[in-house]
Amino acid sequence: MTTIEETLVLVKPDGVARGLTGEILRRIEAKGYALVDIRLVQADRELLGKHYEEHVGKPFYEPLVSFMESGPVVAIRLAGNRVIEGFRSLAGTTDPTTAAPGTIRGDLGRDWGLAVQQNLVHGSDSPESAARELALWFN
Ligand code: PPS
Repeated sequence: MTTIEETLVLVKPDGVARGLTGEILRRIEAKGYALVDIRLVQADRELLGKHYEEHVGKPFYEPLVSFMESGPVVAIRLAGNRVIEGFRSLAGTTDPTTAAPGTIRGDLGRDWGLAVQQNLVHGSDSPESAARELALWFN
């Protein structure tokens, strides 16, 4: 069954700074997903606070927000069949060390004793998150 969805993908500051935006887009397009909209954003605390509101109070919240405002991110509105789950599969698991080879994080992510986890990409984790996050980043 075909279920066309939209999701929010972010190429995080480490991906942009390392010049990996093109490689990440190549993988997304090779999979057959459609770029609906794309923009370079220097996110501020207000936007990031809303984006990561479910993580307020967790130990990684402050390092995560500081990392995400450390440089520009590429925000992508992505469409495709079951793209929410599919992109997360393409990205690999959160921790780059254990992300499977063949995934974005598994092939390209670094986890060499960095104080803040740098895992290259974010993808919405549910239809509800996708709708909320797309409204934040593309309105
Ligand atoms: S949770 O609690 O299971 O929902 O958390 P998780 O899905 O593993 O991670 C949620 C987001 O937090 C990021 N994260 C971190 N960033 C920086 N430093 C540390 N230590 C850290 N731990 C988790 C993780 O990359 C997820 O970011 P997004 O943008 O949602 O992918």
